[in-house]
Amino acid sequence: MTVISDVKARRVWDSRGNPTIEVDVILQNGARGRAIAPAGASRGTREAIDLRDGGPALRGMNVSTALNGIQTRIAPALIGMDVQDQQGVDAAILALDSSPLKSDLGGNATVATSLAVLHAAAADAQKPLWRHVADHYGCVPSLPLPEIQIFGGGAHAGRRVDIQDFMIMVPGADSFDDVMEITNEVYFAAGDIMAKRGKLAGVADEGGWWPNFDSNEEALETLVQAIELAGEKPGERVVISLDIAASEFGKTGDYRLALEDRQLDSGDLIDLLGRWLDAYPIVSIEDPVAEDDVDGMREFTARFGDQVQIIGDDYLVTNAALVDQAIRDQTCNAVLVKVNQAGTVSESIDTFHAAQKQGWGAIVSARSGETEDVSISHLSTGLGGGQLKVGSFTRSERMVKWNECLRIQDELGSAAFVGGAPLAQTWWGKTNQKDAQK
Ligand code: PGA
Ligand code: ZN
Repeated sequence: MTVISDVKARRVWDSRGNPTIEVDVILQNGARGRAIAPAGASRGTREAIDLRDGGPALRGMNVSTALNGIQTRIAPALIGMDVQDQQGVDAAILALDSSPLKSDLGGNATVATSLAVLHAAAADAQKPLWRHVADHYGCVPSLPLPEIQIFGGGAHAGRRVDIQDFMIMVPGADSFDDVMEITNEVYFAAGDIMAKRGKLAGVADEGGWWPNFDSNEEALETLVQAIELAGEKPGERVVISLDIAASEFGKTGDYRLALEDRQLDSGDLIDLLGRWLDAYPIVSIEDPVAEDDVDGMREFTARFGDQVQIIGDDYLVTNAALVDQAIRDQTCNAVLVKVNQAGTVSESIDTFHAAQKQGWGAIVSARSGETEDVSISHLSTGLGGGQLKVGSFTRSERMVKWNECLRIQDELGSAAFVGGAPLAQTWWGKTNQKDAQK
């Protein structure tokens, strides 16, 4: 048994220039682990709350109270514990915070500490993190299928378009490396088309193009054209994935598409998305209606759940009990796994398992505020999670995650890439399975 001998926390800065928390966990044998908390901008109301100081300095975003909590409360509880007992460590952290959403210690403090312990445990076992995760949780590692943003919108691009993420997936790629190459072609083709038409305003929070479109659907049309300009046939190797993030433009079944000056009820929004599903090669939709619109989620899933992956993000906030409830209610068929929504590694793994035992997709995801931390590349690979959402194909806080997967590919071999397998339940998977049987 190797025990934790010290826990050190410091303030560092994220991709939006905001303060965040880095934790070092040091072991009795000198091995150590380090992790940094990410931060969301389009957050679910039921996710773990980051503890920020408030007040005028640093726009209220400072983290000195949270850092102090790590030094004075979390560190004394963890010192002397077995680093391999991730569940025990996470339970000890939870025991210090009786608030419902971890607002006492702060989800930013708990997630950085919990992930740093996981890194330290891997160092102690002298394994790369992905291998430690696979061995510790009894999973078969595989390189995930990425979801990569081409245009940003919603809370990540000044609400210039209402829909938040226009992404591609490349289930027809032969390797993770191949995904990167095809994505490069599509990303720059999209930029060229936009620049030529005067539709390019810059780069959004997650590195996707910041668009000047006149309608939300123009983004879909442009994305299809970009895929074609990149020499691909839309719907074959390359498909589309959307994060509607509907909670950002609607509540209680009332939605407003500001760009188009349109007011929609839940049924109208579902009909609109249904038309897009018919017209464009979309295989995955996240948060199609708002997190409080349970009836809308149920209706959307009843109508489209056999052709498209329906992911709960704000709706499920990486919470295993909410996943179990959604399985009973049939309100989606996949979950986004963001470790900082849950606040600890163990709760995130519980959520992952709750989804997996039902045959649901589980997409490990970054936040819009990110750093050089690469934990999620390892988690996704080690859990054999199948899919990874990181943002776009520019800016180092994004590329560091994709590049880490390429390094893991060198260790694991390119055959470990899951390809289109996670999309088996979608029309793409069904069509391609049929083709394979011919
Ligand atoms: P975030 O949103 O800004 O809260 O990280 C990302 C997402 O909705 O997937
Ligand atoms: Zn989302």
